[in-house]
Amino acid sequence: MTQLLENAFNPEIFRKNGHELVDQLADYLNACKNKDALNPLPWKTPADMLKKWQTDFAAPSEEGVKEFFAAVIADSLHLHHPKYMGHQVAVPAPLAALTELLSALLNNSMAVYEVGPLSAAMEKVIMGWAASVLGMGKEAGGILTSGGSSGNLTGLLAARQHQADYNIWEDGAKDTHPLAVMASAEAHYSISRAVKIMGWGEKGIIKVPLNKRKEVDPDLLEQCYREAVQQGKRVVAVVGNACSTSTGSYDPLEEMAAFCQEHRLWFHVDGAHGAGAALTEKYRGLVKGIEKADSVVIDFHKMLLCPALTTAVIFKNDELSHETFSQKALYLLANEKKENWFDIAAKTLECTKKMMSVKIYALLRTYGPRLFSDYITATYDLAREFAEMIKESGDFELALEPASNIVCFRYTPSAPGAHDPAELDELNTRVRSRIKEDGEFYIVQTVINGAVYLRTTLMNPFTSTNDLIQLLQKIRD
Ligand SMILES: Cc1ncc(COP(=O)(O)O)c(C=O)c1O
Repeated sequence: MTQLLENAFNPEIFRKNGHELVDQLADYLNACKNKDALNPLPWKTPADMLKKWQTDFAAPSEEGVKEFFAAVIADSLHLHHPKYMGHQVAVPAPLAALTELLSALLNNSMAVYEVGPLSAAMEKVIMGWAASVLGMGKEAGGILTSGGSSGNLTGLLAARQHQADYNIWEDGAKDTHPLAVMASAEAHYSISRAVKIMGWGEKGIIKVPLNKRKEVDPDLLEQCYREAVQQGKRVVAVVGNACSTSTGSYDPLEEMAAFCQEHRLWFHVDGAHGAGAALTEKYRGLVKGIEKADSVVIDFHKMLLCPALTTAVIFKNDELSHETFSQKALYLLANEKKENWFDIAAKTLECTKKMMSVKIYALLRTYGPRLFSDYITATYDLAREFAEMIKESGDFELALEPASNIVCFRYTPSAPGAHDPAELDELNTRVRSRIKEDGEFYIVQTVINGAVYLRTTLMNPFTSTNDLIQLLQKIRD
């Protein structure tokens, strides 16, 4: 054993570094909460950032771990800062992050029971809990996977296997049977990516038009379906958003489920961002009908306070999840015909995967589901308050009433000529760019009906009304 290896595994060095890291992270959390000195985005150009870290990389040293931790914190995007209002990435609960450290060191690889016994059992418990929250019935269950994109692919692979009238997994896709999926025109790009991975190309995705609130118009489902059938396509699934990425709109899941039932189609709900509304009393109505879905994706690393990546795919009939990947890997899955809940690789895209269940389990065991419901209710409430503020401002325009915690709006000052559409786009693009480089707030932008809008996702539980007043003022300035 070399001294270097000895040091890398030395428990006392680990203890010292661990205490140091937790101290620094606790100070960071305090600094964020108090908005001390720190900005959400300490902006550096990509070239400057690369230069700094390339220089640091050139001189390995066992000294300076403390300084390294501090520099990593300083140069990152600070999601715990109340003025972070950007993309829909969780502001992790500190306990979930600590649990991530625990599972990272244990590093059980999860593929079969013996290499992840505890996390397999915890995953089963969590999936059962999630299925019951969604009301998906006694046969429901699922798996955790690495991200919503992987989750959507997993759900659609199950739909394909179940709905194709031949064994597509074994035989491969046949040109004579072009398969397709119907989805909201605002579906996340991972849906069309999944369709393309399955080899169906652009023609394999049928975009269902939306109403003014950017929800699927249920009256157009039949027409889209008929057109697809006339073109010789075999539609296997319909995808509903709960909610959409850009505007946070919830599709009419109840009507979509009824449509799927009538045509014997698989109903997949992309609830990566917003399926957690089912946990709240106030906003549960937004996901009415989700219980009828055949598969649902929920990202715990969006609205459920977990670090990335932590995605659940819940199936109405858990048995079907075994059909999706009927892979032969004799060294690992010695008896792949025998279905069981604990050899998880049989049901996932991954072979090795992280012990994702432990952090969710830790939050539920410590705080109960109320933690999630308090959080979602508070952020959805704040979005509605922000929307009112925008409507009353006189110089901002709300894109649409928020259904979730995503609020899209734009600056519309009444200066002469400022209402020319191209000028407004240019102005709002410039605003977003200046805000990003200034660093005091972090917001993003989107395009709605061809026009540029500023986009905020109120992810931080400490964002206050006053922060939002200040954001509007900052934009004016
Ligand atoms: C609605 C929706 N589905 C899926 C995804 C993809 O999830 P992930 O980034 O975890 O792959 C996103 C990401 O923002 C999303 O908003």
